Amino acid sequence: MGELPSDLVRVVLSAETIHNRVCEIADQLSEDYADKGGIYIIGILKGAFIFLADLTRQLTVPHVVDFMALSSYGKTDTFSGAVRIIMDLREPIEGRHVLIVEDIVDSGHTLDYLYRTLTGRKPASLRTCVLLEKKRDSLDVPIHYLGFEIKDVWVVGYGLDFADAYRTLPYIAELKRD
Ligand code: IMP
Ligand code: MG
Repeated sequence: MGELPSDLVRVVLSAETIHNRVCEIADQLSEDYADKGGIYIIGILKGAFIFLADLTRQLTVPHVVDFMALSSYGKTDTFSGAVRIIMDLREPIEGRHVLIVEDIVDSGHTLDYLYRTLTGRKPASLRTCVLLEKKRDSLDVPIHYLGFEIKDVWVVGYGLDFADAYRTLPYIAELKRD
């Protein structure tokens, strides 16, 4: 690996570490959904797009991919306020086995809102798959599949950004403060 961009402190998760874990999660999903007749996978834009692409290409069970985009009122880079949907699903999810794929749970507000909203649409089942969870006091929202637990620092790469930068780094790194 070359030198880190100067705004980054250190690599938290290497590309290889991420890849191995993504394959493990995909195996688990393929096992758990083997008899369900297909998964309706919802990727949360923008942050989950790389995780979603890698994860779904390892699945051995039928699945379709859809997307939602969410935004928080009064959102700053480190605080998410009330959540709203800025792009919704293409199809109803009633009676389907739905899996939410999200990049990271910080306060948990985004996933909590989404989980409650989608529950109201009466899917046959609803589970969540999250790449990263920060160690802090988050809302008590169920995470059924988790990649890694990380320290409460701002991380970028592998889909995660700071002001839309660094999303396409192959690894996940800690951003320098100020
Ligand atoms: P929450 O609603 O506080 O759980 O925040 C979730 C959203 O905030 C994620 O979907 C990310 O878009 C963003 N986020 C939280 N922490 C980080 C981080 O460390 N790096 C990049 N994005 C983050
Ligand atoms: Mg996100």
